[in-house]
Amino acid sequence: MSSKILDIRDLAVSYGHIEAVKGIDLSLNKGEITALVGANGAGKSTALLAISGLVKAGRGQVLLDGEDIVSLSPHRIVQSGIVQVAEGRAILTTLTISENLALGAYTRKDKAQVAVDLDWVYSLFPVLKQRAAGLAGNLSGGEQQMLAIGRALMAKPRVLLLDEPSMGLAPLMVQEIFRIVREINKTGLTVLLVEQNVRQALRIAQHGYVLETGKIVLQDTGANLLNNPKVVEAYLGG
Ligand SMILES: Nc1ncnc2c1ncn2[C@@H]1O[C@H](COP(=O)(O)OP(=O)(O)O)[C@@H](O)[C@H]1O
Ligand SMILES: [Mg+2]
Repeated sequence: MSSKILDIRDLAVSYGHIEAVKGIDLSLNKGEITALVGANGAGKSTALLAISGLVKAGRGQVLLDGEDIVSLSPHRIVQSGIVQVAEGRAILTTLTISENLALGAYTRKDKAQVAVDLDWVYSLFPVLKQRAAGLAGNLSGGEQQMLAIGRALMAKPRVLLLDEPSMGLAPLMVQEIFRIVREINKTGLTVLLVEQNVRQALRIAQHGYVLETGKIVLQDTGANLLNNPKVVEAYLGG
């Protein structure tokens, strides 16, 4: 049995009087990939933004190794080890690739380890190394997603939050991104993966949660969810 690194309890988020996340319980086992899947508008991004402190939770707890971080600033949450790759790959297009990566590590004091992590990111994404001095804005969509993930890794996360990393990418690049998420996880990093690509996400995730209009309606192992008739019917075109 793995231990919980992140334990989310009764998390609710409203925009004005619309409750987008309606009191969800979700936990991440250390070292695992957990998938959070659901249709467009289900509240997946809102849940991630609340975990990152970028939107304020109306109620609930986000326990990182037992400590509630829900009221910390986004900056402190990153420092505590929860790092999100935003939906839509928010990289800085007018900076170079190496500058974007350096920004990921800017609060870190362990400079020797930063250099080691940079080598690791460049080995995960050789194209970023080849084009390190080039402008990030000249990368393709898939390469920009790689840069966004690489930049998050440079912050030395303990928990990596990925919001739709495969969105809008060509099929081969989608495969490549899922392969990389798996490879990153194999180093022991805990991942919360939000995806509309339900099949691919559940294939690589040990556990999964299904979110519908702000509520968790199913949770199980990734393999069981892939075979769950409700999931097949609603999300897998069965
Ligand atoms: N900034 C916002 N202001 C108001 N409503 C929002 C905002 N962001 C998202 N919503 C609404 O909250 C609900 C959940 O959205 P979101 O978390 O983006 O879902 P998902 O990521 O699953 O597609 C949707 O109904 C969406 O329209
Ligand atoms: Mg979203």
